[in-house]
Amino acid sequence: MTKGIFPTDKFRDTRTPFYYYDTELLRRTLKSINDEAARHDGFVVHYAVKANANPKVLNVICQAGLGADCVSGGEIEAALRAGFPASKTVFAGVGKSDWEINLALDKNIFCFNVESIPELEIINELAARKGTTARVAFRINPNIGAHTHANITTGLAENKFGIALEDMDSVIERAATLEHVAFVGLHFHIGSQILDMGDFKALCNRINDLQAHLEHRHIRLEHLNVGGGLGIDYHHPNRVPVPDFKAYFDTYARHLKLREGQRLHFELGRAVVGQMGTLITRTLYVKQGAAKQFAIVDAGMTDLIRPALYQAYHKIENLSSQEPPETYDVVGPICESSDVFAKAVDLNKAHRGDLMAIRSAGAYGEIMASGYNCRQLPAGYITEDF
Ligand code: LLP
Repeated sequence: MTKGIFPTDKFRDTRTPFYYYDTELLRRTLKSINDEAARHDGFVVHYAVKANANPKVLNVICQAGLGADCVSGGEIEAALRAGFPASKTVFAGVGKSDWEINLALDKNIFCFNVESIPELEIINELAARKGTTARVAFRINPNIGAHTHANITTGLAENKFGIALEDMDSVIERAATLEHVAFVGLHFHIGSQILDMGDFKALCNRINDLQAHLEHRHIRLEHLNVGGGLGIDYHHPNRVPVPDFKAYFDTYARHLKLREGQRLHFELGRAVVGQMGTLITRTLYVKQGAAKQFAIVDAGMTDLIRPALYQAYHKIENLSSQEPPETYDVVGPICESSDVFAKAVDLNKAHRGDLMAIRSAGAYGEIMASGYNCRQLPAGYITEDF
C-alpha cells in the first residue's frame, strides 16, 4: 500500500506545501551507488548539487562519501558548508564570474570544468594574481543527442555548453602556453533524464576516439568526467525507487577504455535525489467545471515548476482518501494557465483538506522554487523532522 510510506498522520498539522525527503530511501540509493561504483577501479562519484541543495539532504549525501559537482559560487559555499571536502569538489558552468573563480581558487577545489578559451584565460589570470595554479578539465561538447526532453539535452553542437570537438586541440595547445593552469582531464555531459544506456555507450565511443587521438599527440589525461544524466522512473516511484546503477556503471566499465591509473568521474543529480522527495500539498477546493473537475491544491508552479516548464510527469496520490477514484485536473493557485500539475488523472475522490503527494520531486523541485506572486518558498523536511 503506497500511502503507507508516508507519515501522513504527522503531516496533518504541518503547514503545506512542503517537501518531504525520505532519508531511508536516500541512504539506500547512496548505498547502491557506492556498492556498484566500487566494483570498478577508478570510478569516482560526485553529487550534482544543482538537483537539490537542501542542507539536510546535502549532509546525508556528503556522509556517504560522494564528492560535489557545483555550477556556481553559491553551490560551492553550500557544498563546503554541508561538509563536502574542497578536494572532492568540481566547478562547472559556461559563465563563471570572477568572484566565483576566486572563491574556488581560495578553497583549492579539485578541478574547474572549463567551457571556453576566454574563460581559461581569466582563470589563468586570476590564479596568477594569487600565485597559484588551477587544475582544469575541458568540457567537450561531444555532439551526441540524448533521447530526452529538448530543454534538458546539452551535448548537441547547437547547445551553448562546452568546447566544440574541432576546437579541442587548439584549446589544449592554448592551455600549454598558460603558466597558471594545469590541464588534467576532459569533461562531458550529454543531458538529463536519460534511460537508454545506448546514449551513454555512444558517449563512451566518442571518448575512446578522442583519447586515441590525444595519445597520438602524446597527451595523457589524468581523469575523465562523464557528467550525470541517469534518469528515474517517474511513472513507478514505488516499483523502481532506486535507479539501476548497476546497468549504468557497467555500461561505462564495458565501453569506455580507461587507461592505467586513470580515474572516471561521474556527476549524478536526479538519480541520487529524485525518488526520495515528495511535494506534499493540501486540497483547497474541488471545483466542478463544465466538462471536468479540478482539484485546486495549495502548491503551485512556484513550488514545483517541472510540469509547467518541461511538461514533466509527476505521479500524484491522494493520501487522505480511500474512496473510489474520480478524474481530476490537479492545478495550483498561481495566476498562470500553465500552473497545472496534471490533467485528467485518476485520484481517490478528493475533498477539501485532503493531502496530496506529488511524487519523484526530490530533484529540481525545491531548488527551482520561486517567489512569484509573493509566495513563500516551500519548506523541506527530512524523515527525522517528524
Ligand atoms: N553535470 C552537468 C554538467 C550538468 O549540467 C548536470 C545537469 C548534471 C551533471 C546532473 O545531471 P542529472 O544527473 O541530474 O541528470 N532542471 C531540469 C534538469 C536540468 C539538468 C541540468 N544539468 C529538470 O528538472 O529536469
